[in-house]
Amino acid sequence: MKYGQYWDAFYEKTYVKEARKALWDVPAALSVGKDLEIFQSYFHPELPVLDIGCGTGEQAHYLSAYYPRVIGVDAAPTAVALAAAEHTLANLEFQTLDAADPEACAALHQKYGDMNLYMRGVMHQVDAAEQARFVANLSLLMGERGRLYFIEVADNIRSYFAEATHGFHELPKAVQEVFVSNLPPHGINLEHLPRLFPAPGFNILASGEGHLLTNLTLPRGEAVRIPAVYALIAKGA
Ligand SMILES: C[S@@+](CC[C@H](N)C(=O)[O-])C[C@H]1O[C@@H](n2cnc3c(N)ncnc32)[C@H](O)[C@@H]1O
Repeated sequence: MKYGQYWDAFYEKTYVKEARKALWDVPAALSVGKDLEIFQSYFHPELPVLDIGCGTGEQAHYLSAYYPRVIGVDAAPTAVALAAAEHTLANLEFQTLDAADPEACAALHQKYGDMNLYMRGVMHQVDAAEQARFVANLSLLMGERGRLYFIEVADNIRSYFAEATHGFHELPKAVQEVFVSNLPPHGINLEHLPRLFPAPGFNILASGEGHLLTNLTLPRGEAVRIPAVYALIAKGA
């Protein structure tokens, strides 16, 4: 439960003690709303959607208008409690789950059957040595018919903020440091997708470059966008 402890401390400090928002907490129409345009035609509409690493639940709430059942899960109990208190809809539920835990994932699949998976900004935080096991859990949750859409921090993130973005250097130093020093080095590279999701077990249906919108704005009013990659993955050939 190491992910749970780390992330729970983050939510407790940021949302509960300091009443602030995380930098990735942006209106759902601008995050999952954009992603939906990519994944909607690939997801089986009758399957439940599992939002893995749902945080405070805005995206799961948004998706509940499009799918019969949406389950938001997060390793951080504090995030799940905030999500459940804020978003109460008949076809939406939240629960604490560490997606790195195979038994918990097996139990969830047992309960809901095959699911479409939505994941925004989670996998780049998983230790490199544990990524294959994490992907095996995703496979378990998808079953045969579920599909996975993820959008994740790209692996050029550090150099992008350290060197490439001109406007970024206009942000206060403390904010610049959040990007350069605190981000884990193992973002996702599109070239590594076939190794991460190998055939014949997985079939990469689509992938590309995108960005993760943040609620930080540059002095000229432009939002900071984190370079990202997305992928749409099915099971089997
Ligand atoms: C960068 S935040 C993104 C939150 C949300 N998906 C969004 O885009 O607004 C990453 C989230 O993943 C959750 N998380 C990290 N590792 C996890 C794991 N192993 N299982 C479930 N959730 C996890 C964290 O608690 C956090 O809420």
